[in-house]
Amino acid sequence: MSTPQKEKICRLLLSQLNALLGGEDDITACLANAAALLHAGMGYFWTGFYLVQGKELVLGPFQGPVACSRIAFGRGVCGKAWEARKVLRVDDVRKFEGHISCNEASRSEIVLPIFDKKKKVVGVLDVDSDRTAAFDASDEGFLREVVTMIERKFWH
Ligand code: SME
Repeated sequence: MSTPQKEKICRLLLSQLNALLGGEDDITACLANAAALLHAGMGYFWTGFYLVQGKELVLGPFQGPVACSRIAFGRGVCGKAWEARKVLRVDDVRKFEGHISCNEASRSEIVLPIFDKKKKVVGVLDVDSDRTAAFDASDEGFLREVVTMIERKFWH
């Protein structure tokens, strides 16, 4: 749910991300700080990036419990978001066929593909919550802005 308080936090986080991206050109450093910023600022359960390597997504910078290192194209929520080339929001991961459970406590999830200039998927941003239906349209809008900033910095 979007509240004035939450909108304020999101705006603040976007401006902090803008400053972080403006001050550093190394992709690992930027994705690591982006994950830390979102994770601490929004109180997510797991926040991180997977980057495309051939036909797999390989774990990148993240915050939260240990996660699986590689996800094949079309597998799990992440691989399906890559295949479908669109944002996937899953209200209850236990009802999502093929969900890859990295941690028992994960209940809902949102995955956003990251595109390069030629519209090729280069990775995903994956955010998990330990509550069901934790992500609504306002969360998606916020995370889309995060991804757009990262795409512009490194892939456009
Ligand atoms: N649940 C994901 C795997 C990654 S973890 O949540 C960090 C999926 O089904 O793709």
